[in-house]
Amino acid sequence: MPQEHRLILKNIDRPGYTPSLESYGDYAVLRKALALGPKTLADGKTMSAPEQIRDEVKLSGLRGRGGAGFSCGLKWSFVDRKSGKPIYLICNADESEPGTFKDRQIIYKDPHQMIEGMIIACYANDVHLAYIYIRGEFTDGAKILNRALAEARAKNFLGKKILGSGYDLEIHVHRGAGAYICGEETGLIESLEGKRGYPRIKPPYFPAVLGLYMCPTIVNNVETLCAVKHIVEMGGAEFARLGTPNNTGTRIVCVSGHVRKPGYYEIQVGKATLRELIFDPAFGGGLPEGRNLKAIIPGGSSAKVFKAGEKVKLKKKSPDGKDTEQELDILDLPYDFDTIMAAGSMSGSGAVIVMDDSTDIVEALANISEFYAHESCGQCTPCREGSLWMSKALNRLTHGEGRKTDADYLLHIADNIPGGRTICAFGEACSWPVQSFVAKFKDEFIAKGGSGVALPRESKAEDLLKPELQQQS
Ligand SMILES: Cc1cc2nc3c(=O)[nH]c(=O)nc-3n(C[C@H](O)[C@H](O)[C@H](O)COP(=O)(O)O)c2cc1C
Ligand code: SF4
Repeated sequence: MPQEHRLILKNIDRPGYTPSLESYGDYAVLRKALALGPKTLADGKTMSAPEQIRDEVKLSGLRGRGGAGFSCGLKWSFVDRKSGKPIYLICNADESEPGTFKDRQIIYKDPHQMIEGMIIACYANDVHLAYIYIRGEFTDGAKILNRALAEARAKNFLGKKILGSGYDLEIHVHRGAGAYICGEETGLIESLEGKRGYPRIKPPYFPAVLGLYMCPTIVNNVETLCAVKHIVEMGGAEFARLGTPNNTGTRIVCVSGHVRKPGYYEIQVGKATLRELIFDPAFGGGLPEGRNLKAIIPGGSSAKVFKAGEKVKLKKKSPDGKDTEQELDILDLPYDFDTIMAAGSMSGSGAVIVMDDSTDIVEALANISEFYAHESCGQCTPCREGSLWMSKALNRLTHGEGRKTDADYLLHIADNIPGGRTICAFGEACSWPVQSFVAKFKDEFIAKGGSGVALPRESKAEDLLKPELQQQS
């Protein structure tokens, strides 16, 4: 029986647990980190305490929980430590991907866990000034964080010479204005600098080298930074024993849509399948009475959709080292970064969106595409124009004004946005849903194309039926 493995969510929703420092405790893991002395290696060289923490994070195999699943240890190793400029750390608390609602649980219910993780990450990376970039709509979240930071300052977990060490750190909360693109790390950095949230082109603007104020900068997700605290507490090797190879630790999965128990569930990565996440009583608890599964978006609205009954062929290594191929129903895919990607989608921000057979798939895609058309920052022509054209075509399909050719038209646009034609990965984010929905449910898009006659915008679907209705009366 699959069960939750609550590490980060351990205290969240526990009766009587509040966001206060009194509930949280004494920052014991920070104390442990600051008490670490230099370590002498077999070759006689010494390793500083921050280097040891960075090593543990590498050993843990932690992959970023913000969307891309990039190795946290590797990201930290890219930081330019020789530039002579200050190094900044930013906690990405924008949580803007539709279907994702995990970071806000941590912020609202256990903020000190995140702050302790941030302080340890800052100490490990020689950071003395850090920011929490929180999405504008989380008004209460910003207040809770500021209160928690004040409590931490009062106990000298922040400020000068933290807990008697020689280490100084300040953390500020910065509220965004509610733009999806400000979750993208370089758009976020621009916004934090007080400018419009326009993503920067990479290269040269890799944050680890040219980030905030053109200084080396680490951007990590809320959940990733919480995991850092647990890695230091339990050791990198112990953390790596959780989950599956290359997909270590735990992660919080947000299950939403047509399930009986929508919610956030922490699993060992890869130790629960999509079937379990959707149907098991420990997780989503199944579909509403009498309904059948139609589709799953496995990693937030920008991930490619899976169709119920879809089979995927996955390559596996047999015990004798030979490559074998295994065919799996999408429901039997273990929920981890690599498997979902090998199956043609991504686990992204950990948001599993479930659609049953009551779903109008064209309406669903129209809804998603309207969001992306609204959120494109507009810098790149393919993204700015393409996202709008796709949304317009879908809008006319849902209003009975579509054309039979609209399915191919949508694919044509979606195929011409991503693939290096845009500054940031939003180009992919707005195209992948269209490419996958239309390819996998093409009949439904063609059926919505109606008679193929393009009606004036103010016309209604019933207009198409008028001659028949008159004949019947
Ligand atoms: C369009 C777009 C939106 C994003 N939104 C978020 C977000 O809301 N929160 C987040 O943590 N990462 C988001 N990301 C990913 C960030 O750019 C970045 O990879 C992440 O914050 C790094 O943290 P991690 O390594 O801990 O995952 C987004 C990326 C893109 C392309
Ligand atoms: S891809 Fe879209 S969101 Fe990203 S920079 Fe270009 S226009 Fe802006």
